[in-house]
Amino acid sequence: MTSRAAIVAGLRTPFVRAGTSFAQLDVLELARSVTLELLQRTDLDPAEVDHVIYGNVTRPVPYSNLARELVLAAGLPRTSPADTVTLACASACQAITDATNLIERGYAEVVIAGGVEMLSNVPISLSPPLARALVSASQARSMRQRITSFTNVGLKDLPPVAPTITETSTGLSMGQSAELMAKLNGISRADQDAWALGSHRKAAAAWQDGRLAAEVAPVYVTTNGGRAVTRDNHIRADTSLEKLAQLRPVFDRAYGTVTAGNSSPLTDGAASVLLMSEERARSLGLQPKAIVKSYAYTAVDPAGQLLLGPAYAIPRAMERAGLSLEDIELVEMHEAFAAQVLSTLQKLESDDFAREELGRSRAVGCIDPDRINVSGGSIALGHPFGATGARCVTTLANEMERRSAALGLVSVCAAGGVGAAIVLERP
Ligand SMILES: CC(C)(COP(=O)(O)OP(=O)(O)OC[C@H]1O[C@@H](n2cnc3c(N)ncnc32)[C@H](O)[C@@H]1OP(=O)(O)O)[C@@H](O)C(=O)NCCC(=O)NCCS
Repeated sequence: MTSRAAIVAGLRTPFVRAGTSFAQLDVLELARSVTLELLQRTDLDPAEVDHVIYGNVTRPVPYSNLARELVLAAGLPRTSPADTVTLACASACQAITDATNLIERGYAEVVIAGGVEMLSNVPISLSPPLARALVSASQARSMRQRITSFTNVGLKDLPPVAPTITETSTGLSMGQSAELMAKLNGISRADQDAWALGSHRKAAAAWQDGRLAAEVAPVYVTTNGGRAVTRDNHIRADTSLEKLAQLRPVFDRAYGTVTAGNSSPLTDGAASVLLMSEERARSLGLQPKAIVKSYAYTAVDPAGQLLLGPAYAIPRAMERAGLSLEDIELVEMHEAFAAQVLSTLQKLESDDFAREELGRSRAVGCIDPDRINVSGGSIALGHPFGATGARCVTTLANEMERRSAALGLVSVCAAGGVGAAIVLERP
């Protein structure tokens, strides 16, 4: 290892509910907007950027490598390689840890890593029979051949096919999996709603006192007369336990506890993080906020507790850092659902889980809830799949700097049963 990878700065767009303020925007434009603003705010010459890695889940049809398009659209060096990574909700974590690897090996000194999701504008595809027929018709040499290309296409093949947030191997949606976890782990509706309320209150407070404003860049939407989008639009400062308790369960209407109130919403947004070798940052006169100390990815069987990956990834990242959970002062834990967060915390505190699943003699440890998601989490802020990891790393690095906290942790659960954990330390 030649160098340590430093988080120098991070920035995100407002996170807005899908189908609202960014509905007319292109996904590349969203990524470009926040990346340009990050360069401007750090006063970094774009020519310094060696590499770009960007996460994205619902891949836009026109951009087979969105990260490389971002390089070209943002005026970054045309000689900078770029790759688009996908690890479901942990995609930006993957981008950041890939950037860490490049920097630590000395293969790059300045990397932009982040992610974007535009759920307002998902790629809609055709059924395989209709798609095959269209390809065949486009290659036909006569009208007769063109018409016969469609002979095997039935009415059922005509509707467009939209991407789903359903596990291919189990057929269960994320919400159904969260519901299953709530039942298996005995997570009550009241506890889920209380967690969701906390998420909204902390997010509203962090906007109020300027902490979130400092890490959110306005996006200028030029259609429909033009306007600047400056704020997240899902946070409900006025929600309450009473209002949350009135919401009906969504994924198991008869017996469920997971509602729109204690789930993260479908969201549009982008986030970019600037990583550098520690030496490069200092030579450019930039002060690193945090160093990537360790990370881990794990996976569980999706047929079990799909979103429990962080309960396995966190202890592994801790071991790799030579730390225990008690050493961690701040945590950014992605809130896909309150049931998933509470299940993860429960498992980390469980001696049985440690023995049976991790081969450890004692529980991983207990995290003080007051140290988790101090500026709100994905339930209130929203969750653009590809961007969330970069939002968590940015907020954590900023808060560690603000509090002079020595060590912090990010965790993200992801489709496929994957869990991600990243440990940051103050330089
Ligand atoms: C849960 C989900 C289906 C809800 O979607 P939705 O029905 O469009 O949600 P809405 O925001 O319209 O909320 C539904 C209702 O609850 C109300 N509501 C939502 N959150 C609330 C809160 N915190 N307080 C009070 N009311 C709330 C809304 O006002 C709305 O009420 P209305 O019907 O009277 O207008 C959707 O957000 C979802 O699929 N989330 C999960 C995404 C996912 O799986 N991500 C992957 C994670 S890894």
